[in-house]
Parts: sequence; structure tokens; C-alpha cells
Amino acid sequence: MKTSLKFIIIIIIGLQVCLTASDLIINVDGRNTSSLNGQWEYIVDPYDNGYYNYQLVPHTREGYFANRVPENKWDRIEYSFTDAHTLQVPGDWNTQSDQLYLYEGSLWYKKNFNYELKQGKRLFVYFGAVNYLCNIYFNGIPIGNHVGGFTPFNFEITDLVKEKDNLLVLRVNNTRKREGIPTINTDWWNYGGLTRRVELIEMPKTFVQDYSIQLAKGSDNRISGWIQLNGPDQASQNVSIKITELGIEKQFKTDANGLAKIELEASTVLWEPQNPKLYNVIVESESGKVTDAIGFRTIESTEDEILLNGKPLFLRGICIHEEAPIRGGRANRLEDARTLLGWAKEMGCNFVRLAHYPHNEFMTRLADEMGILVWSEIPVYWTVEFDNPDSYANAENQLAENITRDKNRASIILWSVANETPVHETRNRFLKNLVDKARQLDPTRLITAASDKSSTDGYAYNISDPLCEYLDVIGVNEYVGWYDGLPEKCDKVTWTREYKKPVIISETGGGALFGLQGDALTRWSEEYQEDLYKRQIGMLEKVSFLRGTAPWILMDFRSPRRPLYGIQDGWNRKGLISNFGDKKKAFFIMQHWYDKIESEGF
Ligand code: GCU
Repeated sequence: MKTSLKFIIIIIIGLQVCLTASDLIINVDGRNTSSLNGQWEYIVDPYDNGYYNYQLVPHTREGYFANRVPENKWDRIEYSFTDAHTLQVPGDWNTQSDQLYLYEGSLWYKKNFNYELKQGKRLFVYFGAVNYLCNIYFNGIPIGNHVGGFTPFNFEITDLVKEKDNLLVLRVNNTRKREGIPTINTDWWNYGGLTRRVELIEMPKTFVQDYSIQLAKGSDNRISGWIQLNGPDQASQNVSIKITELGIEKQFKTDANGLAKIELEASTVLWEPQNPKLYNVIVESESGKVTDAIGFRTIESTEDEILLNGKPLFLRGICIHEEAPIRGGRANRLEDARTLLGWAKEMGCNFVRLAHYPHNEFMTRLADEMGILVWSEIPVYWTVEFDNPDSYANAENQLAENITRDKNRASIILWSVANETPVHETRNRFLKNLVDKARQLDPTRLITAASDKSSTDGYAYNISDPLCEYLDVIGVNEYVGWYDGLPEKCDKVTWTREYKKPVIISETGGGALFGLQGDALTRWSEEYQEDLYKRQIGMLEKVSFLRGTAPWILMDFRSPRRPLYGIQDGWNRKGLISNFGDKKKAFFIMQHWYDKIESEGF
């Protein structure tokens, strides 16, 4: 058969497979998985020769490497994965090779594996996250693509998998794009690649794909939600929820779409930071079950309060980027989560703002276990293209994938739809649509965003961003004493609010190089940062409607916007802890303040 005809057939099959991309499977740890983590061969492809056929005009996207992926380097080709260098997966490519440190472009990953799929079973390939976009080819067939660098996705490969020598190839491209989410300018490193886990998930023909099991909004003893099956027998199937510790087992039946709404009474020990109680919840269908650790709590807000289980709360927080402590690079291990959340706990935090994108699932599941409340955010950051419907669809998809993955995590109390976006009508509409979508996807949690657009009249600062109208809780980023005057300015600034809603300071702080000593006016010294925090606390203690603080930031993190030689060297130095784990003087100022707040019962 002529190559071109064969190739056309491959593409047609691929499009069919591509069109049946699967809905997200949640709770991967509770499934029958085989890991594809480890060493993957790769080819760097800065001109995208493996993707575009430059002989054709306009350039067509053919996925050359995937369909012509050469195994024998002596063939008449110039690209071969055979004996190619390898990258560790999960992991960003930037910190695995000096040539890739600043690389932005396409890079092809390849993994071979054998798999004996049992009769009647289905097989999916699952990616924890790939930054920023990818095209996936399995045994030469394009099976799908994904855009967005921080949320999971999976594709079904049941009909394509072979017993021996399967070939999984991805084109990953991390080039920043004006229309992207985030857009081309961010204050963090654009770590590219297969940055989180890759798993094969084997499932029965019809299985429990997704479920939402949380206390109903406004109730502390009624669990409500739904169970979604996936498969040919999904309709009118018996499903059940079992919480043995509570003596609960209740049956439900799915509708024609495999969906079963659930409702059950349960007097649970409510999850809270002081007692992060998790229950073993078994979700069962006629073909199998999945077990999850779920905490039950209520979260509400009034004009002045954030109420956890009906009690007013002060969020003693800190912001965290997904930067690996000590080794640097994208944090993606349980040990990274333990270190970062352990430092937050040591500071006296009951709250973390996971900036500026969904973090890996180790972080949110560990926050559940440790009793740390979470602000979870999508990277609608700074000047995205608010008038571009594709950018909106991208943002909404990342929001939906984030909520799908983490909607059963008690620790998450806030979904954030944006950070420091310019005030104009198009942006307001873009963000209001995201807020409405978040509420529709998850009516149980509070919606927020971080704004740095307070109006000022001398030392009088008024929180007046029109975005606040749509939010339950208002996040305010302010840098009085760093970007905005010297620390002594904090002594004079007062705050008011245009909208009667609880306010969190979602960012404040300043830079210091660990070990650089000086007086309180020596910028970048630990003493400057220490004095700044003292004065910030003095200012914030006067804000009667303040219900939380999340200083920027727990640990120094890489950023291409921070080149100051000898001080930043490519790192944002606002951390209270250095990237090597050294606590700066300001860490202890925050630790003392949070200890005082906690001793006052907040
Ligand atoms: C901004 C922004 C952060 C950034 C920080 C800074 O507020 O939200 O992403 O890193 O300021 O300038 O350090």
C-alpha cells in the first residue's frame, strides 16, 4: 500500500480515536495502575520538523516523528529515538540538562512498554500534567492533545494497545503564547515537559469514572453529590456509597447517562485544621469499587466572616509556588509536598495559597491529611487575552479540570479564578463567566481572586476592584514597603473596602538574600525584610475586616524576571525561606505573629 494512502488511513483512525478522548478519571491512586514514570528517550525539535511538513503549503501538522518514528538510526533518516538521550519523567526538562535550561519549544518524548490487557478490560493513559501543550501518538496513531500545563487528562488506548512493544510518543511544546493561559509574561520559570506522573489505568468495561461526595452547601449532616459511570453498561446500574466507620451503606441507581445523584444523612466528625478527620469512603458499582479518603466540613462566608463549620476563621497563610525545595525545578514528589507544607505548619499556618496554578495532587491530598486549608488557583495571570474566546475556553477548561480532580478535598475552601488582572469591562466579563462556571461546577466552595487594583488617596487605600462584586472572598495583593514606598509607609496606610465581603491579603512582602546582613534600610538585606514584615503586621492589625493573610512567599523560586546579579541570579527572593531551606529573619516575625493570633483563638 502506498505510503501516502497508508498515512491518510492512519490519520483518519487517529481522528476517530482523538475524538473519543476520555473524561477525566479521578483518584488515580485508588485505581489499578501501572506507572510509566522513569527514563524516556527524547528528541529536541526547535523547528518542529517532527510536526510540520514544510514541503506542503500551508504547513500541515502531520506528527512526523509519531508516524515515521525511526527505530533504526541507519535508516535514511536523521531523527531517531534509538540511543537518544533520556529525561526523567516526571520532571521538567529545564533542570535536567544545561542545554534545556532556558529552552522553549517542542521536544519529543518516547516510551516503549509491553502490556497484556485482560479480556473485557479497558486501558487508559493518564498524565498528571504536561506543560504547556502536547500531541499524543500511540503506536503511530494520533490519539489526542491537551492544552494547559497544570491539570490532568487521560486518553483511552484499549483498541490500540498490543501485548509487546507499544510506542507512546508525545510532542510537548512549552512556548509561551499571547493567547495562552498564562500568557507570555509570568513571574515564574516556564518549566516544560512531562512534569507530573504518567500512568496506565486498567478498568472494567464499565467503571466509576468520577464522583462528588461532600456535605451539601449549608448542611453539616447531609452528604450530597453524584457518581458518574463510564462504559456500555452505565445506564440503570446499581451503585453504592459505603462509609463503614459511620455505619453507612446506601444504594443508588444511575440514569441513562450513567449518572446517579446521591444524598445521605451522616453525622460525621467535621474536618478542621485542629482535627483533619478523613473517612474511608467506598464508591462501588456492579463491576468494581474505588476507595477514597474524604473529609467533611462546611465552608461559608458572610459580609464579614469566613465560617468553617459555622465558626469564624482567620486564615494564617502563606503563598507557595510549585518549586522543589533544595533541588529546584518543578516540585512533583510527595517529599516536596511534605517539606513545603511542613515549613508552612512550622510557621504556624492553617492556610496556603497554591500560586498561581493547580499544584500536583500530592499537595492537596497532604493538605487534607495535615489540616491545612487551601486556596487553589488557575493561571489567569496578568494580561491574558480577555477578548479572545479561545483564551476563555482554555481558562474554563483548566478550571473544570482543576475542580474535577480536587472537588473531594476538604482542605480546598477557595477556588481562585485570577491574579492581578487589569480592570476593564472585557476582563470583568471574562472573570465573571469563570466565577459563574466555578459555582456551577462546585456549589459547595467559596470563589475568590487576587486583585492588586485598590484605589489610593494619599495613605488611604480603598479596596474597590469591580471584580470583588462577583466574589465570596476578596484577595488583595499589596506591597506597601517594597514596590510601594519604604517600610515606614506601612505605619501611615489605612484600608477601607468598597464591597462588604471578607478580605484576605493574598500577597504582601519583599525580597531578601539569605545571609545578606545590613540595616533596616539596606534593600535585599534580611533586616530590611524583617522590618518590612513588622510594619506590615502593624498596618494589617488595624484592618477590622481582614480575615486572613498569605504573604508572598514561603520559599525563593526561579523566575526569568529576576536577574539582579549577585542577589537574585534568576530567583525571586521574596521567600521567607531560601531555596536551600534557610529560614530568613522575617520567617520568625510571621511565626511569632501567627502564634499570637492562634493563642487568641483564631
Ligand atoms: C505579584 C505577582 C507574583 C509575583 C510578585 C512579585 O504580585 O502576583 O506572581 O511573583 O508580585 O513581584 O514578586
